[in-house]
Order: sequence, then C-alpha cells, then structure tokens
Amino acid sequence: MMNDNKLWYRDAVFYEIPVKSFYDSNNDGIGDFRGLAMKLGYLKNLGIDAIWILPFYKSPLKDDGYDISDYYSILPEYGTIDDFKEFIDTAHSLNIRVIADLVVNHISDQYSWFMEARKSKDNPKRNWFIWSDTPDKFKDARVIFVDTESSNWAYDQSSKQYYFHRFYSSQPDLNYDNPEVRDEIKNVIRYWLNLGLDGFRADAVPYLFKREGTNCENLPETHNFFKEIRKMMDDEFPGTILLAEANQWPTESRKYFGNGDEFQLAFNFPLMPRMFIALAQSDYFPVEDIIKQTLPIPGNCDWCIFLRNHDELTLEMVTDKERDIMYREYAKISKMRINLGIRRRLAPLSDNDIATIELLNAIMFSLPGTPIIYYGDELGMGDNIYLGDRNGVRTPMQWSYDRNAGFSSADSEALYSPVITNPNYNYESVNVEAESRLSSSLLSWMKKMISVRKTYKELLGRGDIKFIEQKNKRVFTYIREYENQRMLCLFNLSRSYTYVELDLREYAGLKPVEAISGSYFPRIGELKYFITISPRSFYWFNLTVPERDDSMDFDEL
Ligand code: GLC
Ligand code: CA
Repeated sequence: MMNDNKLWYRDAVFYEIPVKSFYDSNNDGIGDFRGLAMKLGYLKNLGIDAIWILPFYKSPLKDDGYDISDYYSILPEYGTIDDFKEFIDTAHSLNIRVIADLVVNHISDQYSWFMEARKSKDNPKRNWFIWSDTPDKFKDARVIFVDTESSNWAYDQSSKQYYFHRFYSSQPDLNYDNPEVRDEIKNVIRYWLNLGLDGFRADAVPYLFKREGTNCENLPETHNFFKEIRKMMDDEFPGTILLAEANQWPTESRKYFGNGDEFQLAFNFPLMPRMFIALAQSDYFPVEDIIKQTLPIPGNCDWCIFLRNHDELTLEMVTDKERDIMYREYAKISKMRINLGIRRRLAPLSDNDIATIELLNAIMFSLPGTPIIYYGDELGMGDNIYLGDRNGVRTPMQWSYDRNAGFSSADSEALYSPVITNPNYNYESVNVEAESRLSSSLLSWMKKMISVRKTYKELLGRGDIKFIEQKNKRVFTYIREYENQRMLCLFNLSRSYTYVELDLREYAGLKPVEAISGSYFPRIGELKYFITISPRSFYWFNLTVPERDDSMDFDEL
C-alpha cells in the first residue's frame, strides 16, 4: 500500500531505468514494461522507494526516445498501455513510486504536428514551432550537442525557412509563446498522471522560452510556466512531483525551486562533477564550496544527488581548468569523451576500485538531498565506449551469468545492444545473482547502506549540514543534524592513509558509534578528537549519549 506522506520524495532513494535496458519479458531483445514489472521485487529488496523511467513514448529513437513522435502512445516494443498500468499498479503495491521523463522542450520531426507544420507557412501547426528566414536569431543560445550540430537552426527544404532546435536537428523546439502549445503540454501531463504516474523528471527545462538578446536559458517566462504546471499538478493531482533537469551554475539551478512553488526536486548538477574533481585533487574544497553555494533551498524542496546517469558526465558548468583536470584524470582515451563531457559509468570512472565506488556512494547517501542510483551502478557495471553516442552506458542490465546476462533469451545478435564482456567487468561475475550470494559484493554493500541511511533520520533529505573546519584538506568532514540526532561523516578523498584532529568540544560527552557496524569509539571530550582514516575510506559516526561505561566498549565488538 502506498503511504500518503506528501513529502515522500524527501526521504526516498530513487533509481533511474531505461525501459529497454532492464528486462526483456518476450525475448525480442528489447526490455519492456512487463519485464520491468517482473523485476520490481529486486528494487524493493534493494531498498528503492521511487523509480525514474526514461522516455517510453512513441519515437523514431534518434535520441533514444528523447525525440517523441506521439506524446499519447507507448513505443510498441515496450508494451501496451495496459502493460504500463500494470507496471505502475505493481510498483504501487510495493510502495514504490514512479516518475517518468517529460520531454517538452522539443519533439521529433516525425511527430504529426511538425509534419503538418512544415507543409506550408500558413499551416495551423506552423506557429507551434520557431521559424525564421535566416539562421541569425538567438545568436547567444549555445549549441549543446557540439560534436554533431554546428547551429541551433536547420533549414526546412519544403517550406523554405529555418526552424530552431536546441538539440539534434531532428528535434524541433516547440514554441512556448503559443498558448495552444502550453495547453497541449498540460494535457499531456494530465493524461499520464491520470494513468497513475507520481510525477515527472522534466527534461531540458532551462530552454523552453527564447528571447532575443539573452542566452535563451532560465528566462522568467520559463519559470512562470513551470510554476503554472506545478499549481495545476498540486490542484489536480496532489502528491505528485516535478524534478528539474537544469544543468546550470548554482545561482540559476537554485531558482528552479522558486519559493517552494516550482520544482520539488532538481538535480544537483553543480555538485556532480565536483565530487570527481575533489577525488582527482584529494581536496574537499570544490565539494564543500559548491554545497555552500547551493544551500539553503525552500523547506519543501530537495536536491537530487547523483553520481552518474544515462548521459555523459557533463562538464559544461565547470571552469576550463576543472575540465582539464577531469579529462586528464577520467578520459585518457579520446573515445571516452562526447560533447563537453565523459561517457563512462561509475565503476570505470573509479578505475573499478571498490573503495572509490563506495566512497562516492557514501558521500551521495549522506549529503543533504535525495540520492538517485543509475541502474547497474549498484553492481559496478562496466561500459563500452565504442558503441557510439551515449549508448555505452545504456547496455543491458546484468541479472546472471546466463546467456545475455539473463536480460533476454533472444539470440544475442537480436539484443538492442551487446552486453558488457570486457574481462574486468564481465557480466559473468558482475551480475545480480552472483553479487546477491556474496555478502562482500558491491550490491550487498549498497543494500546495507540504503538501509542504514533509512534508520538515521539525520541522513535523509531534511537534515541540516554543518562543516567541521580542520586542517587536512584530504578529509571531507561534516555533521548532519536532524532534531536531536547527529551523524559525523568523514571521507578520505586521497589514496593515502591519513588522520584528522577535530575540534568537537560542542559535542563533549557524546560517544561516536560507527553507524554501519555499530562499533563504539572513545567518548568526545575537551581535547581534539583524533581519527586515522584509510585511503578512499569513510566513517559515519552516530553521535550518541552513552548509556554505559567506556570500559565495556570492546565487549561490544
Ligand atoms: C536531456 C537528456 C538527454 C537528451 C537531451 C535532449 O539532456 O537527458 O539524454 O539527449 O535532453 O532531449
Ligand atoms: Ca521485449
């Protein structure tokens, strides 16, 4: 049964899934809704509270479904509307919420709306798009897919004008100055919420409205439109949420929360690359600095914290110097790069070092916000940088060491993508079944961490964060606090053994208990608290009021 907590998204752990990649129920080589429904038990067991499904709408798949050719139907390979409803119902019966991509900045050029529009300049759908006689308007709007597009304008031969597109030229942007477009998009939203969705991850939100003389990002009109949508959702579908994909600098990103009346959640894009920069430099400054810049936010909102997703690790919102550090450390082979970013999964980015993977996840699980796991990263799945576009991080989920990693019984040639067979990440050992048997596996560790996180309220979205100043820049140190609960978190970002001396006088008398093993540490006193810490390792210390004598501590081990 679904709980009716209105702030459910604040305590949730999210999980991101492309439908085609998770499980193939009818052996045609493509994952589908029935398959997804069959694997919900796995997600429940892992401790997942909400799923974000990638675009599943009808599409020619020129941009993996982010090019929608009918908002009101499902790609037949993924199943029927009934399969979709069945999937949502099953998820809800397990108390798992489902949000889906809402891709409204642009559509596919195969959509009937655009095919109509390009017929003639006076077609009734013409004004649903943005046309111009020259490619000169909106000069300050940057091109995003820099590897493939040289302009945001494409020439339409049939009607002899240019149309505007922020992404691939096969994705014409909708014209939000047209009220018909705005009304239609609201209907799209109503349609899917009526079928049971719990909200949306809104794609490419900064770009909806365009104005000459601006960079056409984050315009007030765009914010107002999302506020309107939010109001409509609150009124008509209470409890549903909006999550913003706005890859922007902190000052602009924060604005998507409005005054608590726009998005409930927004991806913390500023933070994500900086976690990797902090590791590369063994210095916590970039992370602490960005967290200070991204807080506070309105009380009913949270940052969505992620390490990886289905796109490249974007390096648009970092300085040139930071980008160089990232490329040098994480993209040594040029195939690893795409656009302004790095197309790799978490395990390969971490050099397949389990301590590094765990460290990054432990940071994600303990920072203020809502964590989101990219499917397969809980297993340490590898990637394939030779697959083109961002397909290398979208390979089939690895369930077992059976044929096709247990994802499908189709002939392997029929799979939508090859499975990962690189020896370091081979599906024969990196899979759900094998890792479920080992208590030392990454999967078992992730499960444990999610459950530990849930038992300590101060680690959830709503706890405060207080940075502890100390001299060792390798060790990222903070305290999470919620009501009278406190968690002291320490992360050694470096590859060396090291130590910290912490001034914890204000907590004198409390006793740190290592939260995962339940192991007691010496009581905090007036002197500096001294802790040694192994390379790329971390501690979560629950600061408790001890009921017992210190001398008994070792009996507890
Ligand atoms: C978003 C999606 C990305 C897609 C783009 C264009 O950034 O995450 O996968 O290519 O929008 O829709
Ligand atoms: Ca299938």
